[in-house]
Amino acid sequence: MCRSKGHARILNCVESSLDKNQGMKGFQKFFAITDAKKGMKDMMKANPAAQGDFCRLVWKISDIPSMPMSLRRYFEILHDEVASLRDLENAVRHDQSLSARILRIANSSYYGFRGKISSLSRAMLLIGFEEAKRICLSYVLLDLSRDSHALDPHTREQLWKHAFAVGKAASLMAQKRPWLQRDEAYFLGLLHDLGKVILAVHFKDHFESIKELSLKSGVSFYAAEGAHGISHGRVGRWVGLKWGFPEIYLEVMEFHHAPEKSSLHKPAVTLIFLANALANSRWSPQLLEEEEIISHCGDLFISHEEWMEYGEQMARVWREVDVLWSTLN
Ligand SMILES: [Fe+2]
Ligand SMILES: [Fe+2]
Repeated sequence: MCRSKGHARILNCVESSLDKNQGMKGFQKFFAITDAKKGMKDMMKANPAAQGDFCRLVWKISDIPSMPMSLRRYFEILHDEVASLRDLENAVRHDQSLSARILRIANSSYYGFRGKISSLSRAMLLIGFEEAKRICLSYVLLDLSRDSHALDPHTREQLWKHAFAVGKAASLMAQKRPWLQRDEAYFLGLLHDLGKVILAVHFKDHFESIKELSLKSGVSFYAAEGAHGISHGRVGRWVGLKWGFPEIYLEVMEFHHAPEKSSLHKPAVTLIFLANALANSRWSPQLLEEEEIISHCGDLFISHEEWMEYGEQMARVWREVDVLWSTLN
Protein backbone atom coordinates (compact mmCIF):
# COMPACT_ATOMS: atom_id res chain seq x y z
CA MET A 1 0.00 0.00 0.00
CA CYS A 2 1.26 3.47 -0.87
CA ARG A 3 2.04 5.68 2.12
CA SER A 4 4.76 8.11 1.00
CA LYS A 5 3.99 11.82 1.15
CA GLY A 6 6.24 12.65 -1.85
CA HIS A 7 4.34 14.19 -4.74
CA ALA A 8 5.81 11.89 -7.41
CA ARG A 9 4.97 8.88 -5.30
CA ILE A 10 1.44 10.13 -4.74
CA LEU A 11 0.86 10.59 -8.46
CA ASN A 12 2.24 7.09 -9.16
CA CYS A 13 -0.12 5.67 -6.61
CA VAL A 14 -3.03 7.57 -8.15
CA GLU A 15 -2.09 6.05 -11.49
CA SER A 16 -1.87 2.51 -10.17
CA SER A 17 -5.12 2.86 -8.21
CA LEU A 18 -6.84 3.99 -11.40
CA ASP A 19 -5.22 1.12 -13.32
CA LYS A 20 -6.96 -1.28 -10.98
CA ASN A 21 -10.33 0.09 -11.96
CA GLN A 22 -11.24 -2.77 -14.28
CA GLY A 23 -14.53 -1.31 -15.46
CA MET A 24 -13.04 1.88 -16.89
CA LYS A 25 -12.77 2.10 -20.68
CA GLY A 26 -9.45 3.03 -22.34
CA PHE A 27 -10.17 6.65 -23.16
CA GLN A 28 -11.83 7.23 -19.80
CA LYS A 29 -8.86 5.69 -18.05
CA PHE A 30 -6.43 7.92 -19.93
CA PHE A 31 -8.53 10.93 -19.13
CA ALA A 32 -8.91 9.91 -15.52
CA ILE A 33 -5.17 9.48 -15.01
CA THR A 34 -4.08 12.72 -16.66
CA ASP A 35 -6.88 14.71 -15.11
CA ALA A 36 -6.40 13.26 -11.64
CA LYS A 37 -2.70 14.10 -11.85
CA LYS A 38 -3.39 17.65 -12.95
CA GLY A 39 -6.09 18.08 -10.33
CA MET A 40 -3.76 16.89 -7.60
CA LYS A 41 -0.90 19.16 -8.68
CA ASP A 42 -3.29 22.13 -8.68
CA MET A 43 -4.57 21.24 -5.25
CA MET A 44 -1.07 20.92 -3.86
CA LYS A 45 -0.07 24.28 -5.31
CA ALA A 46 -3.25 25.93 -4.05
CA ASN A 47 -2.78 25.10 -0.41
CA PRO A 48 0.69 23.81 0.54
CA ALA A 49 -0.06 24.27 4.24
CA ALA A 50 -2.79 21.67 4.08
CA GLN A 51 -0.65 19.11 2.22
CA GLY A 52 -0.31 16.76 5.17
CA ASP A 53 -4.05 16.68 5.64
CA PHE A 54 -4.63 16.47 1.95
CA CYS A 55 -2.28 13.51 1.48
CA ARG A 56 -3.98 11.58 4.24
CA LEU A 57 -7.29 12.40 2.65
CA VAL A 58 -6.13 11.14 -0.73
CA TRP A 59 -5.01 7.82 0.73
CA LYS A 60 -8.26 7.40 2.50
CA ILE A 61 -10.21 8.19 -0.64
CA SER A 62 -8.11 5.55 -2.41
CA ASP A 63 -9.63 3.10 0.05
CA ILE A 64 -13.13 3.89 -1.11
CA PRO A 65 -14.30 0.90 -3.12
CA SER A 66 -15.09 1.03 -6.84
CA MET A 67 -18.53 2.14 -7.91
CA PRO A 68 -21.04 -0.13 -6.17
CA MET A 69 -22.39 -2.75 -8.62
CA SER A 70 -26.01 -1.68 -8.17
CA LEU A 71 -25.12 1.93 -8.96
CA ARG A 72 -23.10 0.83 -12.00
CA ARG A 73 -26.01 -1.28 -13.28
CA TYR A 74 -28.52 1.57 -13.09
CA PHE A 75 -26.07 4.16 -14.35
CA GLU A 76 -25.57 2.05 -17.49
CA ILE A 77 -29.32 1.74 -18.07
CA LEU A 78 -29.79 5.45 -17.52
CA HIS A 79 -27.21 6.33 -20.12
CA ASP A 80 -28.20 3.68 -22.65
CA GLU A 81 -30.32 5.40 -25.28
CA VAL A 82 -31.98 2.15 -26.37
CA ALA A 83 -32.71 0.83 -22.87
CA SER A 84 -36.39 0.20 -22.18
CA LEU A 85 -38.68 -0.02 -19.20
CA ARG A 86 -38.31 -3.82 -19.43
CA ASP A 87 -34.50 -3.55 -18.98
CA LEU A 88 -35.03 -1.45 -15.90
CA GLU A 89 -37.65 -3.85 -14.58
CA ASN A 90 -35.24 -6.78 -15.01
CA ALA A 91 -32.63 -4.93 -12.98
CA VAL A 92 -35.12 -4.00 -10.24
CA ARG A 93 -36.47 -7.55 -10.02
CA HIS A 94 -33.16 -8.70 -8.48
CA ASP A 95 -33.60 -6.31 -5.59
CA GLN A 96 -36.48 -7.27 -3.33
CA SER A 97 -36.23 -4.19 -1.22
CA LEU A 98 -36.32 -1.83 -4.22
CA SER A 99 -39.17 -3.83 -5.83
CA ALA A 100 -41.21 -3.43 -2.65
CA ARG A 101 -40.60 0.30 -2.63
CA ILE A 102 -41.62 0.68 -6.27
CA LEU A 103 -44.87 -1.14 -5.46
CA ARG A 104 -45.39 1.12 -2.47
CA ILE A 105 -44.91 4.22 -4.61
CA ALA A 106 -47.31 2.93 -7.31
CA ASN A 107 -49.92 2.26 -4.62
CA SER A 108 -49.50 5.65 -2.97
CA SER A 109 -52.23 8.27 -3.15
CA TYR A 110 -50.07 10.17 -5.64
CA TYR A 111 -51.02 7.70 -8.42
CA GLY A 112 -54.59 7.12 -7.20
CA PHE A 113 -54.47 3.30 -7.32
CA ARG A 114 -54.20 2.71 -3.59
CA GLY A 115 -53.68 -0.99 -2.89
CA LYS A 116 -54.61 -2.18 -6.38
CA ILE A 117 -51.19 -2.62 -7.98
CA SER A 118 -49.66 -5.97 -7.04
CA SER A 119 -47.14 -6.72 -9.78
CA LEU A 120 -43.84 -4.99 -10.42
CA SER A 121 -44.54 -4.81 -14.17
CA ARG A 122 -47.79 -2.91 -13.64
CA ALA A 123 -46.21 -0.68 -11.05
CA MET A 124 -43.35 0.24 -13.39
CA LEU A 125 -45.76 0.85 -16.27
CA LEU A 126 -47.85 3.12 -14.11
CA ILE A 127 -44.92 5.10 -12.76
CA GLY A 128 -43.34 5.38 -16.21
CA PHE A 129 -39.78 4.88 -17.43
CA GLU A 130 -38.50 8.38 -16.62
CA GLU A 131 -39.79 8.49 -13.06
CA ALA A 132 -38.81 4.85 -12.41
CA LYS A 133 -35.22 5.64 -13.46
CA ARG A 134 -35.11 8.56 -11.03
CA ILE A 135 -36.47 6.45 -8.20
CA CYS A 136 -33.96 3.65 -8.83
CA LEU A 137 -30.95 5.94 -8.92
CA SER A 138 -32.13 7.79 -5.80
CA TYR A 139 -32.55 4.47 -4.02
CA VAL A 140 -29.12 3.04 -4.86
CA LEU A 141 -27.45 6.31 -3.95
CA LEU A 142 -29.09 6.19 -0.55
CA ASP A 143 -27.33 2.85 -0.12
CA LEU A 144 -24.03 4.72 0.02
CA SER A 145 -24.96 5.89 3.50
CA ARG A 146 -27.73 3.50 4.56
CA ASP A 147 -25.71 1.46 7.04
CA SER A 148 -23.13 4.05 7.86
CA HIS A 149 -22.60 4.54 11.58
CA ALA A 150 -20.54 7.64 10.86
CA LEU A 151 -23.55 9.58 9.69
CA ASP A 152 -26.20 10.64 12.18
CA PRO A 153 -29.77 10.21 10.89
CA HIS A 154 -30.49 13.95 10.85
CA THR A 155 -27.42 14.80 8.71
CA ARG A 156 -28.20 11.90 6.38
CA GLU A 157 -31.75 13.09 5.91
CA GLN A 158 -30.61 16.68 5.35
CA LEU A 159 -27.99 15.68 2.76
CA TRP A 160 -30.28 13.44 0.72
CA LYS A 161 -33.39 15.58 0.86
CA HIS A 162 -31.23 18.44 -0.40
CA ALA A 163 -29.94 16.21 -3.24
CA PHE A 164 -33.49 15.17 -4.21
CA ALA A 165 -34.65 18.79 -4.15
CA VAL A 166 -31.74 19.98 -6.32
CA GLY A 167 -32.44 17.12 -8.75
CA LYS A 168 -36.11 18.03 -9.01
CA ALA A 169 -35.41 21.77 -9.32
CA ALA A 170 -32.85 21.07 -12.06
CA SER A 171 -35.32 18.88 -13.91
CA LEU A 172 -37.89 21.69 -13.66
CA MET A 173 -35.52 24.21 -15.22
CA ALA A 174 -34.41 21.74 -17.91
CA GLN A 175 -38.01 21.57 -19.14
CA LYS A 176 -37.43 24.85 -20.97
CA ARG A 177 -33.83 24.14 -21.96
CA PRO A 178 -33.61 21.67 -24.86
CA TRP A 179 -29.83 21.36 -24.51
CA LEU A 180 -30.22 19.31 -21.33
CA GLN A 181 -32.54 16.33 -20.90
CA ARG A 182 -34.74 16.46 -17.80
CA ASP A 183 -33.46 13.08 -16.71
CA GLU A 184 -29.86 14.06 -16.91
CA ALA A 185 -30.62 17.31 -15.09
CA TYR A 186 -32.17 15.27 -12.28
CA PHE A 187 -29.17 12.92 -12.04
CA LEU A 188 -26.71 15.82 -12.07
CA GLY A 189 -28.65 17.47 -9.26
CA LEU A 190 -28.89 14.24 -7.32
CA LEU A 191 -25.14 13.70 -7.52
CA HIS A 192 -23.88 17.28 -7.26
CA ASP A 193 -22.97 16.99 -3.54
CA LEU A 194 -21.70 13.41 -3.68
CA GLY A 195 -18.37 14.73 -2.36
CA LYS A 196 -20.15 15.99 0.74
CA VAL A 197 -21.71 12.58 1.38
CA ILE A 198 -18.28 10.95 0.96
CA LEU A 199 -16.76 13.49 3.37
CA ALA A 200 -19.55 12.89 5.88
CA VAL A 201 -19.28 9.09 5.73
CA HIS A 202 -15.53 8.56 5.29
CA PHE A 203 -14.03 11.73 6.78
CA LYS A 204 -16.32 12.43 9.65
CA ASP A 205 -13.79 14.59 11.55
CA HIS A 206 -13.23 16.90 8.58
CA PHE A 207 -16.94 17.06 7.88
CA GLU A 208 -17.87 17.85 11.48
CA SER A 209 -15.23 20.52 11.96
CA ILE A 210 -16.19 22.23 8.68
CA LYS A 211 -19.83 22.11 9.75
CA GLU A 212 -18.97 23.55 13.17
CA LEU A 213 -16.93 26.37 11.63
CA SER A 214 -19.76 27.11 9.23
CA LEU A 215 -22.31 27.30 12.07
CA LYS A 216 -20.04 29.34 14.39
CA SER A 217 -19.09 31.89 11.78
CA GLY A 218 -22.43 31.98 10.02
CA VAL A 219 -20.93 31.17 6.63
CA SER A 220 -21.86 28.44 4.15
CA PHE A 221 -20.33 24.98 4.31
CA TYR A 222 -18.58 25.76 1.02
CA ALA A 223 -17.00 28.93 2.45
CA ALA A 224 -15.93 27.14 5.66
CA GLU A 225 -14.16 24.43 3.67
CA GLY A 226 -11.51 26.92 2.53
CA ALA A 227 -9.84 26.75 5.95
CA HIS A 228 -9.39 22.98 5.58
CA GLY A 229 -7.75 23.12 2.16
CA ILE A 230 -10.22 20.65 0.71
CA SER A 231 -13.63 20.99 -0.83
CA HIS A 232 -16.54 18.64 -1.27
CA GLY A 233 -16.44 19.62 -4.95
CA ARG A 234 -12.94 18.22 -5.35
CA VAL A 235 -13.73 15.13 -3.34
CA GLY A 236 -16.74 14.65 -5.63
CA ARG A 237 -14.57 14.94 -8.74
CA TRP A 238 -12.08 12.46 -7.32
CA VAL A 239 -14.71 9.85 -6.52
CA GLY A 240 -16.41 10.51 -9.86
CA LEU A 241 -13.11 9.92 -11.64
CA LYS A 242 -12.57 6.72 -9.75
CA TRP A 243 -16.05 5.53 -10.66
CA GLY A 244 -15.68 6.49 -14.34
CA PHE A 245 -18.43 9.13 -14.41
CA PRO A 246 -18.75 11.21 -17.61
CA GLU A 247 -17.02 14.60 -17.57
CA ILE A 248 -20.27 16.56 -17.22
CA TYR A 249 -20.82 14.96 -13.77
CA LEU A 250 -17.25 15.74 -12.73
CA GLU A 251 -17.60 19.40 -13.68
CA VAL A 252 -20.94 19.69 -11.91
CA MET A 253 -19.55 18.06 -8.76
CA GLU A 254 -16.44 20.24 -8.74
CA PHE A 255 -17.81 23.63 -9.81
CA HIS A 256 -21.47 23.80 -8.75
CA HIS A 257 -20.58 26.60 -6.30
CA ALA A 258 -18.52 28.53 -8.88
CA PRO A 259 -19.90 27.82 -12.37
CA GLU A 260 -17.61 30.44 -13.92
CA LYS A 261 -14.69 28.03 -13.32
CA SER A 262 -16.27 25.34 -15.45
CA SER A 263 -14.75 25.02 -18.91
CA LEU A 264 -16.55 22.26 -20.84
CA HIS A 265 -20.06 22.19 -19.39
CA LYS A 266 -20.70 25.70 -18.09
CA PRO A 267 -24.46 25.79 -18.92
CA ALA A 268 -25.16 22.52 -17.08
CA VAL A 269 -22.97 23.55 -14.12
CA THR A 270 -24.78 26.91 -13.98
CA LEU A 271 -28.13 25.17 -14.04
CA ILE A 272 -27.14 23.03 -11.05
CA PHE A 273 -25.75 26.12 -9.27
CA LEU A 274 -29.19 27.71 -9.68
CA ALA A 275 -31.04 24.53 -8.65
CA ASN A 276 -28.87 24.46 -5.53
CA ALA A 277 -29.89 28.05 -4.77
CA LEU A 278 -33.57 27.14 -5.25
CA ALA A 279 -33.21 24.26 -2.77
CA ASN A 280 -31.36 26.46 -0.26
CA SER A 281 -33.98 29.21 -0.59
CA ARG A 282 -36.19 27.08 1.65
CA TRP A 283 -34.02 28.25 4.57
CA SER A 284 -32.81 31.55 3.09
CA PRO A 285 -35.50 33.02 0.80
CA GLN A 286 -33.37 36.13 0.19
CA LEU A 287 -31.03 33.95 -1.88
CA LEU A 288 -33.45 34.18 -4.80
CA GLU A 289 -32.74 37.91 -5.11
CA GLU A 290 -28.95 37.79 -4.67
CA GLU A 291 -27.01 39.62 -7.33
CA GLU A 292 -24.71 36.67 -8.12
CA ILE A 293 -27.69 34.35 -8.57
CA ILE A 294 -29.62 36.78 -10.77
CA SER A 295 -26.52 37.27 -12.89
CA HIS A 296 -26.19 33.49 -13.44
CA CYS A 297 -29.90 33.38 -14.37
CA GLY A 298 -28.95 35.79 -17.15
CA ASP A 299 -26.30 33.33 -18.38
CA LEU A 300 -29.09 30.82 -19.07
CA PHE A 301 -31.58 33.43 -20.32
CA ILE A 302 -33.86 32.85 -17.34
CA SER A 303 -36.01 35.93 -16.85
CA HIS A 304 -36.76 37.30 -13.38
CA GLU A 305 -40.36 36.21 -13.81
CA GLU A 306 -39.39 32.63 -14.73
CA TRP A 307 -36.97 32.50 -11.81
CA MET A 308 -39.62 33.63 -9.34
CA GLU A 309 -42.00 30.97 -10.71
CA TYR A 310 -39.41 28.31 -9.92
CA GLY A 311 -39.14 29.77 -6.44
CA GLU A 312 -42.90 29.37 -5.97
CA GLN A 313 -42.85 25.80 -7.27
CA MET A 314 -40.33 24.77 -4.64
CA ALA A 315 -43.07 24.29 -2.00
CA ARG A 316 -44.51 21.49 -4.16
CA VAL A 317 -41.02 20.12 -4.85
CA TRP A 318 -40.35 19.83 -1.11
CA ARG A 319 -43.62 17.96 -0.58
CA GLU A 320 -42.56 15.47 -3.28
CA VAL A 321 -39.12 15.20 -1.68
CA ASP A 322 -40.69 14.32 1.68
CA VAL A 323 -42.78 11.57 0.06
CA LEU A 324 -39.78 10.19 -1.84
CA TRP A 325 -37.65 10.22 1.29
CA SER A 326 -40.19 8.41 3.45
CA THR A 327 -40.87 5.79 0.75
CA LEU A 328 -37.25 5.02 -0.08
CA ASN A 329 -36.08 4.67 3.52
FE1 LIG B 1 -22.28 21.74 -2.78
FE1 LIG C 1 -25.82 21.41 -2.70
